[in-house]
Amino acid sequence: MEHQLDEIESDAHRELVAAAGDRKQIEALSQKYLGRKGIITQLLRSIASLPPEVRPNAGRRANEIKRRLTAETEAALLAAAASDRSRANRIDVSLPGRSHLCAPLHPITQISREICDIFVRMGYDIVEGPEVEKDYYNFEALNIPKNHPARDMQDTFFVSEDVVLRTHTSPLQIRTMEKQPPPVRIIAPGKVFRCDSDQTHTPMFHQVEGLLVDEGVSFGDLKGTLTAFVHQMFDEQTRLRFRPSFFPFTEPSAEVDILCVICRGSGCRVCKQTGWLEILGSGMVHPAVFENVGYDTDRFTGFAFGMGVERVAMLKYGIDDLRRFFENDLRFLGQF
Ligand code: PHE
Repeated sequence: MEHQLDEIESDAHRELVAAAGDRKQIEALSQKYLGRKGIITQLLRSIASLPPEVRPNAGRRANEIKRRLTAETEAALLAAAASDRSRANRIDVSLPGRSHLCAPLHPITQISREICDIFVRMGYDIVEGPEVEKDYYNFEALNIPKNHPARDMQDTFFVSEDVVLRTHTSPLQIRTMEKQPPPVRIIAPGKVFRCDSDQTHTPMFHQVEGLLVDEGVSFGDLKGTLTAFVHQMFDEQTRLRFRPSFFPFTEPSAEVDILCVICRGSGCRVCKQTGWLEILGSGMVHPAVFENVGYDTDRFTGFAFGMGVERVAMLKYGIDDLRRFFENDLRFLGQF
């Protein structure tokens, strides 16, 4: 009897191990050994007919085996259920990923950053300032007094008597110089506003301002810096010219034209048959501006420049309608 019990237990154990993970098979084994007509159940019943001297021992052994097998089957069922679950939750690494619509940067942002990066590589720091600006910073301190005819150059949105939407990024020149003594080397990107709207003007557009002040800065430095910039922004072959101009806050002043990127100088619709395209305004900082921020005009000189980002973007990408940048048509924006 004892021998028979041992054999049953080791058979059951072997079969359970072989059935690992297979719930149906484990359930069948549970029936086979522990069910109402199971091997162990029948064995326990047959103990009653054994001779009295072996009965207690055999009974104890059979119950032990029943308890062990019951525990083993339950554990096997739990393990099988867990592996069913993990199979259902399994990650299929071969499935194609779900794609997200990942927006690229707006072309104006891209160009603005590209412009700034070129100057950052030359050692300039990036600064930013308010879009709602005091009349003082936008005009007065830049040598444009009230009622000065130069104010007509920029149609201004007034917020109140003394507050405007900045018409250019030049207020950053004043704000920066008020805060720090020379040397100054800054680049200032941002939105500007002018009361103007047609094919080549939008009431809001973007500029990048540059300012460099130190001892012994000359117009030659201005020309060299802007030439290096144009060559990096467009290409080494892009020719540029400095054309005398006027800004109240620079003296002398110059506008910079580049050889038309569309027709390369032979004349076309984009350059209005002149062969040249204006890209920025610049000049040597006017002494009156230095006086407004308390800089020593005997010791320091400097140059400043300001350019329209949309303008540079149009030339770089060959786009002829400024309004494209603001319509937010994804088919247009997606090309950059
Ligand atoms: N602020 C001028 C404009 O908006 C550009 C400029 C900047 C000119 C700095 C000279 C120096 O037209």
